[in-house]
Amino acid sequence: MLKRAREIVKHWKWYHICGGIATMSVLQVSTLWVLSKSYHWFFAAEEEKQRRFLERYGRPTEAQRQEAYSWMAPDYDQGVGLLESGVADKFRQEVFQGASGEVLEVAVGTGRCFSVLDAAEVTKYVGVDVNEAMLTEVRKKLPERPFKAEVVRASGERLPFEDGSFDTVIGSLCLCALENPAKGLEEMVRVCKPQGKVLLLETGVAYLTVARWGQRHLGLVPNPTHEWEFGYRDDLDILELLEACSGLVVDQVRARGMGNWYLIWARSE
Ligand SMILES: C[S@@+](CC[C@H](N)C(=O)[O-])C[C@H]1O[C@@H](n2cnc3c(N)ncnc32)[C@H](O)[C@@H]1O
Repeated sequence: MLKRAREIVKHWKWYHICGGIATMSVLQVSTLWVLSKSYHWFFAAEEEKQRRFLERYGRPTEAQRQEAYSWMAPDYDQGVGLLESGVADKFRQEVFQGASGEVLEVAVGTGRCFSVLDAAEVTKYVGVDVNEAMLTEVRKKLPERPFKAEVVRASGERLPFEDGSFDTVIGSLCLCALENPAKGLEEMVRVCKPQGKVLLLETGVAYLTVARWGQRHLGLVPNPTHEWEFGYRDDLDILELLEACSGLVVDQVRARGMGNWYLIWARSE
């Protein structure tokens, strides 16, 4: 059998190989086409509903997104707890365990990074959020922290701190929640000490171009109701944002999930 196969291969010509590659390509493209068509057929009603939603409501304004956060705040932990276990919680562990020294967290929410920070080498902690309802929730958790901790009401786009104030600046689902994420990232870099750490966990469009294209083509991202429900957008181009930020040195980016979760290790120049 093996001998026979060797015999065949020995007589292969370049046009046999080209023919093989062409046949495989046609088969793969046709399979993708059939899958995509059947997907759109199966979810036609849902897609139509989403299209009508977008046409009627568009994207939420900053005030409407803040309203969503105020609404979610009292039972935010209960609501997202199960959803985030094994996903966001695991990613937070991976990226924020390296936080050290005096730490600033931007868009702290209800303080979902505390379980990681408590075990890290944090000496002092300041959390910032613009939403009072979220701050009410996180304040309840401050006395249990093993480090000196306080929270401040402020916008991540205009941080009330001097340049180079913190050893580590972190953000978890932070840039995707800001109206102007580029400004927010600039601010994080500004208040970080030179060579200090900027650690981020974000969601956005998929890391790989092909996955990005697929998700857009299937109408998975952006989901028009996502921002209304959860306050943060799901179609931020994280890599573009990192690249455009002056003074930020990106050491490592790891994509997780379907490539829509970004774990970022960076530092201020
Ligand atoms: C998706 S939640 C994430 C909360 C938390 N970091 C976490 O990982 O669970 C986004 C948070 O961003 C806050 N936020 C939205 N716009 C903000 C702004 N301009 N400045 C500061 N915080 C903001 C919201 O109030 C909310 O608490």
